[in-house]
Amino acid sequence: LTPEREANHAADSPDRPIGFGRIQRKEDPRFVRGRGNYVDDIVLPGMLHGAILRSPLAHARLVSIDTSEALAHPKVVAVITGKDLEALNLAWAPTLSADVQAVLATDKVRFQGQEVAFVVAEDRYAARDALELIEVEYEALPPVIDARRALDPDAAVIRDELPGRTDNHIFDWEAGDAAETDAVFARADVVVDQEIIYPRVHPAPMETCGAVADFEPVEGKLTLYETSQAPHAHRTLFAMVAGIPEHKIRVVSPDIGGGFGNKVGIYPGYILAVVGSIVTGRPVKWVEDRSENLMSTSFARDYIMQGQIAATADGRILGLRTNVLADHGAFNATAQPTKYPAGFFHIFTGSYDLEAAHCKVTGVYTNKAPGGVAYACSFRVTEAVYLVERLVDMLAQRLDMDPAELRLKNFIQPEQFPYKNKTGWEYDSGNYEPALRKALDMVGYDELRVEQAEKRARGELMGIGISFFTETVGAGPRKHMDIVGLGMADGAELRIHPTGKAVVRISVQSQGQGHETTFAQIVAEELGIPPEDIDVVHGDTDQTPFGLGTYGSRSTPVSGGAVALVSRKIRDKARLIAAAMLETRPEDLEWEKGRWFVKGDPSAAKTMAEIAMGAHGTITLPDGVDGNLDAEVTYDPPNLTFPFGAYICVVDIDPGTARVKVRRFVAVDDCGTRINPMIIEGQLHGGLADGVGMALMEIIEFDDEGNCLGGSLMDYLIPTAMEVPTWESGHTVTPSPHHPIGAKGVGESATVGSPPAIVNAVVDALAPFNVAHMDMPCTPARVWAAMQGRATPP
Ligand code: CDP
Repeated sequence: LTPEREANHAADSPDRPIGFGRIQRKEDPRFVRGRGNYVDDIVLPGMLHGAILRSPLAHARLVSIDTSEALAHPKVVAVITGKDLEALNLAWAPTLSADVQAVLATDKVRFQGQEVAFVVAEDRYAARDALELIEVEYEALPPVIDARRALDPDAAVIRDELPGRTDNHIFDWEAGDAAETDAVFARADVVVDQEIIYPRVHPAPMETCGAVADFEPVEGKLTLYETSQAPHAHRTLFAMVAGIPEHKIRVVSPDIGGGFGNKVGIYPGYILAVVGSIVTGRPVKWVEDRSENLMSTSFARDYIMQGQIAATADGRILGLRTNVLADHGAFNATAQPTKYPAGFFHIFTGSYDLEAAHCKVTGVYTNKAPGGVAYACSFRVTEAVYLVERLVDMLAQRLDMDPAELRLKNFIQPEQFPYKNKTGWEYDSGNYEPALRKALDMVGYDELRVEQAEKRARGELMGIGISFFTETVGAGPRKHMDIVGLGMADGAELRIHPTGKAVVRISVQSQGQGHETTFAQIVAEELGIPPEDIDVVHGDTDQTPFGLGTYGSRSTPVSGGAVALVSRKIRDKARLIAAAMLETRPEDLEWEKGRWFVKGDPSAAKTMAEIAMGAHGTITLPDGVDGNLDAEVTYDPPNLTFPFGAYICVVDIDPGTARVKVRRFVAVDDCGTRINPMIIEGQLHGGLADGVGMALMEIIEFDDEGNCLGGSLMDYLIPTAMEVPTWESGHTVTPSPHHPIGAKGVGESATVGSPPAIVNAVVDALAPFNVAHMDMPCTPARVWAAMQGRATPP
């Protein structure tokens, strides 16, 4: 047995402590037996099937749509076009970024794959067949594909339906102090200046997006089963858009096969399933295929960043500045808190104590799919970390300094926390040096550098890449952030049944992260009830308290806090009841995990199960105490949490084929208090694989006409077990001082931290060719070009 397996084995022992620790996932028995219940598993009586006709062109005027032949298909029940939706005032829906998005095109199509018509038929095959019977006449318009050309005076205006709109500009946004930053740059000995592109990628969850809408016309009640990371927020938005009263809408997000940000937004398909059900009076299922998912649902990244770092000759980093061009596609539908049009990108100062920093981001429309999401990261943190960690590595190369030494020299020091960075964030806690030193030890850094020197002498290409990241996760305090006006607090409700078994209802939604286990562990830790006796309910708005959902690693920082606090509320109430049962005063009782006992007399005690029975029994309860053991809270976090990590990657590049092989990857993470180390490792392993994908193979590209070149998994490559190494993980523990259990988020750390480590390793391997930078993905063709001193080929 590996040490990890051994620890898991021990976790199954009946003697293991109750609470935090490496216990197996409660949800896995149903998944490994094929008993998961996903949206596509849902079959309702009389259910119809919807399919979407999509635009083949990236930019075109819609001249006419003829649906008569499709309607004549014997199995077709309805065909819905933009004109039909216009009559219902539903042709356009608000986005998460104060813009509107076409549900079905009415005037123009603005990206390849845009929704044009919706067919509802007796079965999925007939619905798909009937799409081919719809005649659409388009008048092609010049597309705007290159974000750099979007603001040219002669660029076609994509959003000409918006009143007064004469260009493709969406926003300008800045953070930090430009003048101060210019001043530190003016006195720097060294400035590194580089254009760094984070290409458009896609979350590509295993399960694509889908919905089953069931509108019951007599009660006027809509039940919507959908792939959603945020069921409550979706319900509120549906109520606002469709005019159905909120209490008449139930959103159920059953088992979800991966979200990674892809299931945060409300896609036209969800709305069309609802309209289809209202129009036909029957339930309607819509599930997209892989190409629809890759071509029309939310992309991620697509940032062109001009970055500069300034330092002294001996390697003291003075300042950072960047100018970013953000490609938002045809509708500004990016998911992020209202006040931050570029998300949390201004965390780009990373883990370093700088004198000044400034960033400016300009968002533009292009003829591409809309909806930039934080693919497995907290609102643009991935872009920020990639930028700073590439720049720091370039600076090390320029100064001829070891990249580890440069980082160690510039880290924010432990005594500086809470640390206010130059763009306004207050980092809650951190202790960076031990994490980096641990990673260096684990990988055997000094020996690797010796090996590299020997290999270089023989013409072999080996690279070692470091990244050190700080994330900002757990959005977020109501006073600072909201999404479309909804504050980002989370609720939790806990009920202890008379026999001492419990149910905790949470407002976040698991998509594979193991919440049914870890949230039970939080209750277990606080109350001493075994996790197997605690049911975790999530993903159903009729069953759970309001909250904004799961993304940006916010579940543990926000809902985890809520669950700890609601447990403590129960514990306090249990004390009053135990005192009544023991005929003593509450202040004479002492808590020991699972029971209250009389100080000095541990045998006079009441366990949680006894107290629960007492609460529901016949004893006289103290004044003001209800006869139950239930509680609820809404938790508004005082700050975000700032997990961090040190990652080291070792690559070998075949000099004949330019193929990059990731030989080793060491990841040392610090997410504060660790609830379940096994689940944390699982989260990290998945994120590291994501990082290999983005660094080496994933990109959604477009040709000059706006044809999507990444529309299938034959073109959009994602890593398999063959392309990833055996991960080596370690950790340090620096608790969050403000979180009820000291935990920070971790779900996305590895996706955020790994791409720069891999690219830094690739560039390091290519040092003999004087390569200073190369853009992702580092495919063999691109690496080959870099080795020849040529520009990156497409
Ligand atoms: O919001 P999301 O669930 O994606 O991210 P998260 O809050 O970072 O949690 C991911 C998973 O790791 C959950 O099951 C957490 O409870 C678990 N976790 C943990 O065991 N300890 C931590 N300090 C953070 C997360």
